[in-house]
Amino acid sequence: PRPPSEDPTLERHFRGHKDAVTCADFSPNNKQLATGSNDKNLMIWNLNPKARAFRFMGHNDLITAVQFSPSGHLVASSSRDKTVRLWTPNIKGESVAFKAHTATVRSVSFSSDGQRLVTASDDKSLKVWSVHRQKFIYSLNQHTNWVRCARFSPDGRLVASCGDDRTVRLWDTSTRQCINTFTDYGGPATFVDFNSSGTCIASSGADNTLKLWDIRTNKLIQHYQVHSAGVNCFSFHPSGNYLISGSNDSTVKILDLLEGRLIYTLHGHKGPVLTVAFSRQGDFFASGGADSQVLMWKTNFDALNYREMLSQHSKRVSPDPPPHLMDIYPRSPHVHLSQNGPIEVSTQPSTLEHIVHQLDVLTQTVAVLEERLTLTEDKLKECLENQVLIQQEALRAGQTHEESRVEGPAI
Ligand SMILES: *[C@@H]1O[C@H](CO)[C@@H](O)[C@H](O)[C@H]1NC(C)=O
Ligand SMILES: *[C@@H]1O[C@H](CO)[C@@H](O)[C@H](O)[C@H]1NC(C)=O
Repeated sequence: PRPPSEDPTLERHFRGHKDAVTCADFSPNNKQLATGSNDKNLMIWNLNPKARAFRFMGHNDLITAVQFSPSGHLVASSSRDKTVRLWTPNIKGESVAFKAHTATVRSVSFSSDGQRLVTASDDKSLKVWSVHRQKFIYSLNQHTNWVRCARFSPDGRLVASCGDDRTVRLWDTSTRQCINTFTDYGGPATFVDFNSSGTCIASSGADNTLKLWDIRTNKLIQHYQVHSAGVNCFSFHPSGNYLISGSNDSTVKILDLLEGRLIYTLHGHKGPVLTVAFSRQGDFFASGGADSQVLMWKTNFDALNYREMLSQHSKRVSPDPPPHLMDIYPRSPHVHLSQNGPIEVSTQPSTLEHIVHQLDVLTQTVAVLEERLTLTEDKLKECLENQVLIQQEALRAGQTHEESRVEGPAI
């Protein structure tokens, strides 16, 4: 029997990339994991162990970032080939590409309503695009060096970005102005994101640090120096209580943001860890690295009474407050190796037509639903008004309750 409190465990080991794995993202429904690589391929791993993976070929140069749309119907990828591609993450693997920048695109990310994309590039600019027709909307220019990462706030009102000019910037999407600059970095700022309530941004640096800023007060609220080499990326747990980070020191670390401390160091990659990502439910996380490996871990600890886990661990470790609870060395990246090779999909020049069509159908469905809702509301109102009238009648006529039974119109 397993103990009541558990550490993260290595669940899957996905083999298929032929070069460094630079980016990873779980689908919103938790059924797929997308990864991109220096081998120019995008892989869609189906988490059902019996299903085959898809290999999407289309970019002409290494892939730098990947993200599922909030609905899960699209996957966006960016590349050193200066383009962004939007893919359908199914066996067809159709994609549409558009030239987004005049240099490497480092980052691509959807707004939470799925309508916009923000891209960041070595051309020092950020650009905002419509997803629907991949139309350029506006650019944000103030960085003085490569921009590594850009993210919308959960409410879409802000964009956070960071880069090799050692700054993290906050932009107002309505005025398109830079409204704040955080400059406390001893090297390039590699990755930035909002926490799920949008009141805090975290950033990682080549100076080995992770920093959390409260954007209501513009104060540095947490500062971690837990890695022994540059931090390439991180991911917030959806609860907001934990953060995982990946570093050139070959480790993945898990921070407890409530307690303000390091709780796990995970070993398993040989060489820099370039990407980490929690699943949207927080029950899994993935890591990818320069060793071409994609590892998928089960979080475990989140489902448990955390206090209980801490007390168990304190029995296990030294009397002095340990720098962290546990070093985890998975013995063998064992489990569930896919039997079948991936299905390879090469992109022919194709259009987004059917995706756009799907979006249109969705929009129509929403419109129909809204219409029905209005009808229902009208009928309900009518019904209630009728009921009041009939009750008044009934009172007046001195009828019994049973006799005045009201039949509303069928809704
Ligand atoms: C990690 O190491 C690579 C290769 O030496 C280097 O190019 C990169 O800038 C480093 N990343 C960070 C965050 O320090
Ligand atoms: C986001 O960060 C702020 C500032 O630390 C914190 O007050 C808030 O609870 C966080 N939200 C979530 C969902 O963790």
